[in-house]
Amino acid sequence: MNWKRRVWFRLSVGFIAIILVTNVVLFLITLFGVSEIVIEEVQTRVRMDLNSACKVFKKHVDDIGLLLQATSARRSVPVPLESWDREDLHRLLRSIWQAGELDMLSLLDKDGRVVYREHNPGQMGDDISHNPIVARALREKKCVQGAAVVTYEELGRECADMVRRASLEIKPTKADQSGERKIHHDGMVIGAAVPLVDLRRDREIVGFLYGAKLLNQSCEIVDEIKEDLYQDESYQGMDIGAATIFHGDVRVSTSITGEDGSRAVGTRVSTVVHEKVLEMEKTWADRAFVVDDWYITAYAPIRDPEDRAIGILGVGVREEPFVHNRRLAAWIFLGVVTFTTVISLVLLVLATRTVLRPIGRIIKMSDKVVAGDLSARVNMRPRGEMGLLCLAIDQMADAVVQREEALAQATRRQVGQSEKLASVGRMAAGIAHEINNPLTGLLTLEHLLKSEEGLSDKGKDYLEIMYNETSRMREIVLGLLNFARESSLEMKPLDVNEVIQQWLKLLRSQKELKDITMEEKLAEGLPRVNGDANQLQQVLANLSLNACEAMPEGGILSISTSEEDGKLLISIEDTGVGIKEEHLEMIFDPFFTTKPVGKGTGLGLSVSYGIVRKHGGTMEVESQEGEGTTFTITLPVASG
Ligand SMILES: Nc1ncnc2c1ncn2[C@@H]1O[C@H](COP(=O)(O)OP(=O)(O)OP(=O)(O)O)[C@@H](O)[C@H]1O
Ligand SMILES: [Mg+2]
Repeated sequence: MNWKRRVWFRLSVGFIAIILVTNVVLFLITLFGVSEIVIEEVQTRVRMDLNSACKVFKKHVDDIGLLLQATSARRSVPVPLESWDREDLHRLLRSIWQAGELDMLSLLDKDGRVVYREHNPGQMGDDISHNPIVARALREKKCVQGAAVVTYEELGRECADMVRRASLEIKPTKADQSGERKIHHDGMVIGAAVPLVDLRRDREIVGFLYGAKLLNQSCEIVDEIKEDLYQDESYQGMDIGAATIFHGDVRVSTSITGEDGSRAVGTRVSTVVHEKVLEMEKTWADRAFVVDDWYITAYAPIRDPEDRAIGILGVGVREEPFVHNRRLAAWIFLGVVTFTTVISLVLLVLATRTVLRPIGRIIKMSDKVVAGDLSARVNMRPRGEMGLLCLAIDQMADAVVQREEALAQATRRQVGQSEKLASVGRMAAGIAHEINNPLTGLLTLEHLLKSEEGLSDKGKDYLEIMYNETSRMREIVLGLLNFARESSLEMKPLDVNEVIQQWLKLLRSQKELKDITMEEKLAEGLPRVNGDANQLQQVLANLSLNACEAMPEGGILSISTSEEDGKLLISIEDTGVGIKEEHLEMIFDPFFTTKPVGKGTGLGLSVSYGIVRKHGGTMEVESQEGEGTTFTITLPVASG
């Protein structure tokens, strides 16, 4: 794999990992969070639905009570009851029966024995005081209504159709595979018993009117509840909501229909609901398997007037529509995740290409530069930071070229300078050596002549001039000898600051320099250098005297020291006339001077340059005409 592929591969893997991890986490949080919230919401709704269902159930019970009460309060009752005209009694009960759509309607004596049975007038005399509705009405002598269980035999006394409706075959469901197939015979009713009073004899109770509706296989209440709560909402052709009445744990009335379209009566409630609602007599709300599907359900016990839990009222909504929505949301989310991942990958390919292309160019360019081709450039400017990087690298390459050239020039200059110095030095040494002896002789003779008697004043003056000029010649020759001196340095570790301070003390005492301000900026704790103190002082003298001479009107001469990159730097800076650009190349040449004849020899800088070179150092100049000049000497630090 080349580097581009490697980078691309790493970027892609990292990118995909980030996208996948974030998306999956987001997906799970959203899915579970949202479905949890939705299910909770539905459960709350179903719990509220159960309250409404209980109210509907109670209303139906109360309606029977109200109907019977209305009749009992309106009528005066013949005493004894047996004396009631059969035709009149039949008319009355028939009207009540029709108004209340009752399944049972009987006239009872004050002990709970049937005096007249509207459905089956031939059947009478049986005692139904054990019926919890009747029992409580007898006991409390007032109207009592509620739900009750009516035995198979009692139903038989009413009519055969009641027995048929009550008889339910217990059917298996997916949740109840107990295999029991027994017939459920008893019926569950809602009804009321109201006392009948003798209006003439101080409202004495002479009997009871008992009416009830059989709930088994009756759809009235459950359908009303379903209609009230779920308004025929459906999902895939099936009702979403359902309401059911159980006698015990057997469905006797339900809005749920089976596959054949018949009501799903005769099936059992799940064991957990049975235990919680019938045995512990508590309300229960959770998801439950009902008949053929999962529902979110709520169940409440149905109590008889003696407060025994005899059945259950349950409502629920199918879970499937919500599960379907959750599944749909999951698929949509998955689609979005896949889509964003693909889009991100495409963007990644484009982005890496735009990023990697300049990087490739930069690597190629730097390879060329390393191989010696300094003309190589990146030569592209993409937008943004990458463009800035390319620009910076190209600028860096330009700077390298400039440095290279400057370095080459400096080297050429230094080599030339050294060669020049060497040849001039050799020549100067020869000439100086040859001239020095005759000059010494001349001076001695002039000295002797000066002390001769009888010389005219004019002759004395001429002799004085000769003596001075010869002295100057000898100085020049000594300078030349000094310049050419090969290895007469006495090297030892020196504190450069000390050398400078000694020299400055001497310089400050010169009265002619009173217009010049001297500044010293000497760094502390500088390392020592190996050098000859006298020679270095001579360099300082040459440079500082040059500086003073460049400031005839006065100015600032500042000498500073510092350490840089393990080298010691001495700077001598003046605010004088500066050096013309065309002279800069020549100032280190021996005998180059801009001073008038007889003033300067032009050897100061070349001698100083020679001394610094012998110390292993360098000397550089920077000057701005009219502003000033700075000479910088760099000396190696003494080792150890
Ligand atoms: N600080 C300076 N400011 C301006 N010009 C300078 C400075 N230092 C040197 N120069 C120029 O460089 C020339 C050469 O200087 P150098 O010290 O070698 O000789 P000189 O001063 O002319 O004579 P000598 O030092 O022998 O008396 C000077 O004549 C002067 O033109
Ligand atoms: Mg000089």
